[in-house]
Amino acid sequence: MILRRRSVRSYTTDAVDEAVLAEITAFVAGLKPLFPEAAPEARIISTKEAVFLQKWHNPQFFVFYAPATEEGLLNVGFMYQQLDLYLQSKGLGTCWVGLGAPADAVHKPPQGMKLAVMMAFGHPDNVPERSGETDFRRHKMADITDVPDGRLEPARLAPSATNSQPWAFLHEGDTIHVYREKLALIKARTHGRMNQIDMGIMLAHLYVCHPETFRFERREAHPEKAAYLYIGSVTL
Ligand SMILES: Cc1cc2nc3c(=O)[nH]c(=O)nc-3n(C[C@H](O)[C@H](O)[C@H](O)COP(=O)(O)O)c2cc1C
Repeated sequence: MILRRRSVRSYTTDAVDEAVLAEITAFVAGLKPLFPEAAPEARIISTKEAVFLQKWHNPQFFVFYAPATEEGLLNVGFMYQQLDLYLQSKGLGTCWVGLGAPADAVHKPPQGMKLAVMMAFGHPDNVPERSGETDFRRHKMADITDVPDGRLEPARLAPSATNSQPWAFLHEGDTIHVYREKLALIKARTHGRMNQIDMGIMLAHLYVCHPETFRFERREAHPEKAAYLYIGSVTL
C-alpha cells in the first residue's frame, strides 16, 4: 500500500458499514505504539460534529488525541499511519487533516491529552490508487540521506503535512540516525506539531516493511546534523 496509497479528498456521501467500522475498531485496538507510556486515543465522529477549512463529503472522521509531548505525537503518526495503510488496503480512502477540530461542546479530549490531528476516511469518489513510485512528488533519495539506501525508500514516500517531508538520515554501521528539520520560531508554532506527527508516519513505513526486526531508540551518543534535530536511531 505504501506505493499505491494517496491522500483522498473526494468522497461519496455513503457511510462506512457498521460491520466494517467494527473491524476497523478492532484493528485500532491492536496497533503497535513507539512509546507505550504515551498512548494516544482514536475516536470515530460524525463529520457534522467538527469544523474544517475544507469541505468534506465523507460522513465520518477519525479524531486522534494524545499527550502533548513529542512521544505522544510520534505515537499518533506511527500508529495511525498503520491504520491509514490498512484502510486504503480495504479500498477506503483516507486523508490526514490538520486543518480541522471537533466541536468542543460535543467532544472533550480525554484527561491529560490534547487534539493531535484528524483523519478523513470513507468511500473514495472515483479516486484511483497510485500506479507506482513515479506518481509521487517527493525529495530525491540523495537529498535526504548521506548514503543512498533502498531500505529508506518507504520512508521517502511517506505522506507529511503540506508535503513538507521534514526527515533526514545519517548512517553509522547498521544504524540509521533519524533527524527532523529545525523550524524557525514562528513556523514552529504552526507546523511543529504536524512535523512531529510526520516523523511518526515516516517511521511507521519503516516498521511495516520490517515488522520483526524494526528497533527505534534514543541514543545519548549520536552525530549532530546542522539545521536538524536528532529524533532517534533505527535498526531494521
Ligand atoms: C499530519 C498531516 C496533516 C495533513 N493535513 C491536511 C489537511 O488539513 N488538508 C489536506 O487536504 N491534506 C492534509 N494532509 C495531506 C498532505 O497534504 C499529503 O499527505 C501530502 O501532500 C502528500 O500527498 P499524499 O498523501 O497523496 O502522498 C496532511 C498530511 C499529514 C501527514
